[in-house]
Amino acid sequence: MTASASSGGPPRHVAIIMDGNGRWAAMRGQPRSAGHRQGVEALRRTVRAASDMGIGVLTLYSFSTENWSRPAGEVRFLLELLRRFIRTDVAELHQSNVRIMVIGDRDGLEPALRKLFEEAEALTRENTALKLVIAFNYGGRQEITRAVQALAKKVAEGKIAPADIPPAVIGNHLDTGGLPEPDLLIRTGGEQRLSNYLLWQCAYTEFVFLPDYWPDFDADRLRHAVEAFRRRDRRFGGLTAQTA
Ligand code: IPE
Ligand code: IPE
Ligand code: MG
Repeated sequence: MTASASSGGPPRHVAIIMDGNGRWAAMRGQPRSAGHRQGVEALRRTVRAASDMGIGVLTLYSFSTENWSRPAGEVRFLLELLRRFIRTDVAELHQSNVRIMVIGDRDGLEPALRKLFEEAEALTRENTALKLVIAFNYGGRQEITRAVQALAKKVAEGKIAPADIPPAVIGNHLDTGGLPEPDLLIRTGGEQRLSNYLLWQCAYTEFVFLPDYWPDFDADRLRHAVEAFRRRDRRFGGLTAQTA
């Protein structure tokens, strides 16, 4: 993985924490599920807009390792929504040359859901337009832990030495190995925290926090966030024309 400064063109990688579905619904006196349902519409709009803007990678936080602590009914609803989204949209995404990838821990997930992920990934593997990365049962600390365990195993088996583990090797053992790091992270819903998202990958990511709830997100808001990103002076610890 490499950090990318992208002045001029679209960001190579945009990551989004899609937050605020429940509050969007509560404001309307509706159940939280109504917010999640509208959240899928916002997701569809965003994938189309990102694709049109020429963004290379769009990584969406759909379900965190901590979200299992929600009431069983809400968890079931969220899983069903994701299942339905993939089933309904995979053909159209494939036609649009979108490559689907899923990150997160697949161990312990229902076999049917794992199969759905694998089929969507296999069908779209050769596609070359937008990479749509769905973070499901994803937690940054758990992802780093899995990478560390995989590397420790290689050391224990004598395949590599501890000194052969620079940061780039750790990065390549993460679920996002091979992808560029996010240039821009957008979080809707007003909270200003990472909630265990892409902890390693966001070392030099620019953050845009929006008060809007996720179901209201659209192409205009994405464009505005990208414009705000373009005005940032990314220094990566060094100096640029503005600071020298
Ligand atoms: C984001 O909306 C969706 C998921 C976390 C799966 P929330 O469900 O967190 O909505 P709020 O934050 O409670 O409004
Ligand atoms: C983050 O939102 C997870 C997803 C958007 C999938 P949460 O609503 O779970 O985050 P917290 O609990 O407010 O930190
Ligand atoms: Mg939330």
